[in-house]
Formats: sequence, C-alpha cells, structure tokens
Amino acid sequence: MKITVAENAGFCFGVRRADRLIREKISRDGGRGVFTLGKLIHNDGYMADLETDGVRVASAEDLPRLAASATEENPVCVFVRAHGMTLETENALTAFASENPYFSFVDCTCPYVRKIHNIVSELPSGDGAEEDETVLLFLGSAGHPETVGIMSRRRGRSFVFENASSLTEAAATGKLPLGEKIRVFCAVQTTQKASEWKKFQENVKKLYTKPIFFDTICNVTETRQKEARELAGKCDFVVVIGGSDSSNTAKLYSVCREVCPRTVMVPDAESLDGLIPDDCINAGIVAGASTPDGKIEEVYTKMSEENKAMTESFEEMLDSACKTLNSGDTVTGTVIAVNDQEVKLDLGAKVTGILTADQASDDASLKLSSEFKVGDEIDVFVIRVSDIDGCATVSKKRADLDKNWHKIVDAKENNTTLEGVVSDVVKGGVVIRIYGARVFVPASQTPVPKDGDLSVLAGQTVKFKVIELKNQGKGAVGSIRRATSEEKSAKVKEFWENIEVGKYYDGVVRGMTDYGAFIDLGGVDGMIHKKNLSWRPIHKPADILKIGDPLRVFVRSYNPEKKQISLGYITEDTNPWKLFTDEYKEGDVIDVVISNFAQFGAFAHITEGVDGLIHNSQISDDKNAKAEDVFKIGDTVTVMITKIDDEQKRVSLSVKALDEGAPAEEEAAEEPAEESEN
Ligand code: F3S
Repeated sequence: MKITVAENAGFCFGVRRADRLIREKISRDGGRGVFTLGKLIHNDGYMADLETDGVRVASAEDLPRLAASATEENPVCVFVRAHGMTLETENALTAFASENPYFSFVDCTCPYVRKIHNIVSELPSGDGAEEDETVLLFLGSAGHPETVGIMSRRRGRSFVFENASSLTEAAATGKLPLGEKIRVFCAVQTTQKASEWKKFQENVKKLYTKPIFFDTICNVTETRQKEARELAGKCDFVVVIGGSDSSNTAKLYSVCREVCPRTVMVPDAESLDGLIPDDCINAGIVAGASTPDGKIEEVYTKMSEENKAMTESFEEMLDSACKTLNSGDTVTGTVIAVNDQEVKLDLGAKVTGILTADQASDDASLKLSSEFKVGDEIDVFVIRVSDIDGCATVSKKRADLDKNWHKIVDAKENNTTLEGVVSDVVKGGVVIRIYGARVFVPASQTPVPKDGDLSVLAGQTVKFKVIELKNQGKGAVGSIRRATSEEKSAKVKEFWENIEVGKYYDGVVRGMTDYGAFIDLGGVDGMIHKKNLSWRPIHKPADILKIGDPLRVFVRSYNPEKKQISLGYITEDTNPWKLFTDEYKEGDVIDVVISNFAQFGAFAHITEGVDGLIHNSQISDDKNAKAEDVFKIGDTVTVMITKIDDEQKRVSLSVKALDEGAPAEEEAAEEPAEESEN
C-alpha cells in the first residue's frame, strides 16, 4: 500500500496563528487564568492538551463572571477562536477589558473571517425610508459559530442557506422577498465548497437582477479542497482526519467521498481500527485545518505499521520531500493564496513563503490580488525562516534586484540611458526605482534649478544615466541632466544633418525683436523677418505673434558654420493678390463692401487683403456725384471690375458700368497711385 499525505494537510494559517498566540501565552505566563471562548480548535485531542496546561473553555455567558473575578493575583485572559465571535460578545469583552485592567482578551479571529465581518457590517441596512429593501443571502451552516458571528453584524434582513437548493425552495414557498426593487448581496462561509457556492450564485441570478456576490471562501479551503479531490481521485482509500464538528473537515470528507467512495473520516489514529481495507493499493491522507501535525503523523504511522511496508517515519518523509530553506536563498515559489495584504507561496519546503505588498513592488498602488493569481510562479529571495510560525518571509523586489543588477552595471559601463519613475523626494535629491534598485539623483543632477522644488519630479518617468555604483547590489547614483544634455546634443546633430531649404518645421515662438521673431525648431533656433511673416505690412512681429505661439515655418536659407537659419512663413500660395487674380477678371460683377473714402472716390473691400476703388465718376451719370454722398462705410455695393493692374496691384470698380455693360478703363486708370490700398 502506497500512502500519500496531502501537501496542505493540517493547521491552516488562521488556526496556526491562534495556536501560536495561545502557546506563547502559556509559555510566558502559564495556562492558569487562560480561557478559550468555545473550543479554540475543533479538535478534542488538541483541547485536551491545552487543558493539561490549565487552559479552560468558557462560553459567552461566563464572561461577566470571569471579568468580575479577575484580580492582580488571578488575572484572566480569554482567547477568541479563529471563527470569530458575535458583535455582542466583542462589545462585552471590550467593555470588560476597559473596566478591569486584570481582564484581557486575545482576538484570534482569522483575517479571512474578519474580512466578512467588515463586508457584512458595511452593507446598507435597507430599512431607511429612502432605500430600496436590501437583503443578505448567506451560504453557510446556520448554527456554526463563524456564521453566527457574521450574521450578528448584519443590520438589515438576511437569510442563511445550508446549500444552493434550499435557496430555490425558500423562493418557491414564498419565504424569500422577491421583486425588482430588492437589492441582493450574497456572501459565503469561508469553508464552503466552491462548487456549491457556484450553484448558489447561479440560483440567485435566476431570482434577482444584478445581485452582488462577495466571494468570501477562504483560499486555503479552496486550495485544500482542490488538492483533496485530486488526491482522492488517485486513491482507492482516503482517510480524512479531523473533528466531526469541524466544518472544513466535513467539507473535505464530502469532496473526497464524491470521487473515492472508500473515504472515512476519523478524529485520530485509534479510530482507524478495522477501517483500512486489506486490498488497498493507494491510500491518501487528508486533514482539516484544525488537525495538528501530531495527529496526522499518528495516522500515517498506524497505516504504515499495518501495511508493514512503510518504514520511513512521517518526519523523515516530510524532510525528504521538502527541501531545506535558508535566509539568503533565492527560490521559485508557486502562489497558493493571495489577498490584498500578502501572497502565500509554496516554496517546496516545510515552511510557507509570505510575500507582503512592500516586498512585492515599490509601487504603493499595486494590488497584490490583481498582480498575482494562484498557480503563478515567482522568484523570491528568502529574508527570514521561522520554523515556529511555519513561514518564510520573502522578497520579490530583492530577487528582481539580484537578477537585474547587471543591467545597472551595464548601463554605467556602456553609458546607456535608462528610464525610471521618480519614487521619492529625499534630502538633497530624488530617488528613482528601477529593476528593484534604488538610484539616487542629487539635486544638482536634476533639471530643477538650484533651491527649486524637487517635488515637481515626483511620480514622473525620467531618462537618466548611471554615473556611480554604490555597494554592489544596493544602489547607484544617477544623473537626469546628463541624459537630457546628451539627448539634446544628439537632436541638434541630427537636425543639422537633415536640414534643407524649403523643409517645414513645427516651431514655437521663443523670442521677438522689432524686426523679427526667433523660432525654436526643437533645440535649434531660426529667425524669421517680419516681412516674411505676413502679406499685410506689420510694424513689428508682436503685432501678430506672442511668445509660446506654435508656428509652422519653412527654411529659406541656412549657414551650418554660423548656425544661422532664416525662416519663412508666408508663401505665394497665400499671396492675397495672387488669390484674387486667380479668381477674378475684368468685367466680373461682384459685391464689395465700402471700407474708406477719398476725395476722388470710395475704397471697397473685395477679398482678404485686396481693396478696389470706385471713382466718383464711376458711381452714376451724374458728373457731380461724390462717393461720400452716395455710400456709407459698411454698405454692400454691386460693382463691375473694370480694370486689374497687375503691376501696380490696383483694382478699379464701377457701378455705372453695370448699366453700360463695359469696363470704363480710361477713367479709372487716370487716378493717382495712392488711391490703391493694396
Ligand atoms: Fe482562516 Fe481559512 Fe483557516 S478562514 S481559520 S485560514 S480555513
């Protein structure tokens, strides 16, 4: 018979913690005056051990008496089990402890259970006048202390269901409030079977729209049940060790029995008498979260002795299966559980790896549960191993650093530019985190002016050079300025290599004089003369530009030796006179707007930048007609273009010619040069 012990057999994290806390108390102060609120662990053998140390079990009803009896000579300390307690009991304990300094309590509520307490107590009660009715549907054992403790924190209506089908039954028999307006929240006992929870969720979705599910099954339970199912699938006999009042042991039994009918549940080795089948080839041992290692060893030994085949002791087997772990090792761990506070890793050793958020990343906003999932493999550095706690404190940051330090060294040796995020502003500079390393950048090596505010760099992604290495594997000194200056020089070099006459650049106005503007073309400045800025005459560039304006310009000429560039903005394509002559010809009839008067006639606006003249003689047949008497500024007048003088850039217009149907060229041509406004 081959015997396989499930890897995750025995105390879970929450139970191990409760055990450690009470053992520490007993070894420090003795067990006298120490009480557990109900069985600390659902295991009679374990509780009997505690009793020999003087520890007694108390109920909630005993608390007032115990609190009153606590004195300096006979202090009382109550331990609350991992399942937690009711809100009423918690309040009572807190009050007793504050009233009597010789009465104290140690809350060993498992963090997973505490999380459900918080969820449930924060749910809307649903009984306010403004609120829709709110209901909590809870999948769990109604009488179990964990369920009782959780439900005591619910301020509104709630229903507890042992399984998924009892929910459907309750709905069918009118025991559940139904309706569109009901807001439904669902949670689950930590030790519940994942498959039952899934069915439960499906049934809820058939009854309610938009229910909200809190998946509060403990990862340990889930992992253990999965492993138990896999092991049971390979065995023809399975022993589940644990107390019959332990919820998670009962679930393990049910999971194993589904795949291996020859599954038995026993509290200890003695109870196995007569249960081991003679024809068993592959036997499996699974244990609930409240089963001490000693009990597992006893069962294993008994089965081995009966089989007469196995000689290796349980400890030896574990030792040979598990590698030894030392501080300073770097190992690959597999994620077995994750929450927002920590990641638990199977390191292939007897201890479980604990990776906290601060050792996972420098990014304080990182959510462990989003970054890691069960089954992921992570390389970690072992900081400390504690056989007592069964845990190893590990660091992914340190493992990353060890793996990537050579990249920092290479960057220094090859003068490579790196990119990282400024994580901290410290005295005299800033810190950039990269590859798990800390790179300090002195203030003088940042782009911030002397005595400026370095905090403007916090959170920014910056390029930098490594200029000095500090204590191998610990940190480095960097320079942002050096990277910036090198980048700028490279850009300038590239600019001069690629410049050509006629090439366009998107520049920014950087400065101005009365005769022109300086345009930043991306690290290199060019100059544009005011006459090349506008087709209309301007007095100075500031008439049409301001510092910081974007301007698309082209190169008119350049001198690389003197680093001078002459730029242009206006082109023939935007020349108003060209645009006008492209569109209009003599004889065209158009609408114009009177813009000004002169002694000899009126100027009228034709197109952007082009005005024409209506001579007094071209208004009507009345030889004494004067433009000022006939028109006013802003009038729209229909005229004929009688002459376009390309050389002088002048346009003659006539109202009279509309009746005559022909240009009156001679008269318009006689007018003096200053009549044109073009
Ligand atoms: Fe806590 Fe899960 Fe154990 S809820 S007590 S770690 S089984």
